Amino acid sequence: MANLSIAIDGPAGAGKSTIAKKIALLKNLVYIDTGAMYRAFTLKLINKNIPLDNYDLIKEVLKDTEIDIVDGKIYLDNVNVSSEIRKPIINKNVSQIASIPFVREFLVKLQRKIAENNNVIMDGRDIGTKVLPDAKYKFFLTASIEERAKRRYKELKEKGYKCSLKDVIDEIANRDKMDSERKVDPLKKADDAILIDTTGKTIEKVINEILSMIDM
Ligand code: CDP
Ligand code: CDP
Repeated sequence: MANLSIAIDGPAGAGKSTIAKKIALLKNLVYIDTGAMYRAFTLKLINKNIPLDNYDLIKEVLKDTEIDIVDGKIYLDNVNVSSEIRKPIINKNVSQIASIPFVREFLVKLQRKIAENNNVIMDGRDIGTKVLPDAKYKFFLTASIEERAKRRYKELKEKGYKCSLKDVIDEIANRDKMDSERKVDPLKKADDAILIDTTGKTIEKVINEILSMIDM
């Protein structure tokens, strides 16, 4: 593993990707959004109408799947799916797919390979605990469910999706629960990660907090 890695974990809407992207630019790191990888594979299964509980079929599809991140864009079988993976149907189903052990094994391998060849800032749920346990810096971002849902609701509205704030609270709470309770590599703060509660904090404030703690 390249030794200049930063791991950022936390629940949905905590600000991980926004903050990781900015720190990547400031510190010349490669930003890897691991959630986008789980989303892309979920999108493929949905587009192919694969029943999401048919593990044999899912395994077959996975064998024939290529996922790449280039310049912050996510490619599924060489097609840029960066916008499509943010659709509400993916939000609804991604945690179920991310709980499948062989899917995680496949993507963790890919994530580690990228980190071997680049100085990365990687965000997800299990980066500090599983993917990069030796990361130089580990942060666990969180915020109240109300604030996280409001942030996401605002984004969905801006993109033109029709939903209520309650729908978003329910969806996020459900995903947090599934992600935290799954057997393999659940969402969990690594013992050596620094906890940052971003409730009521601006993006700039959180970035400055992180920058004050890293020396690279
Ligand atoms: O952006 P948001 O926080 O809503 O989600 P994401 O980071 O795009 O991740 C989508 C989903 O992928 C999560 O809810 C998890 O189920 C799964 N995931 C995971 O299991 N492990 C990771 N390292 C990253 C994401
Ligand atoms: O990646 P994650 O799901 O943790 O969150 P995100 O996609 O980075 O952030 C969700 C939304 O909240 C984005 O629109 C951010 O601009 C916003 N945000 C915010 O308003 N204040 C923060 N301290 C962090 C994020």
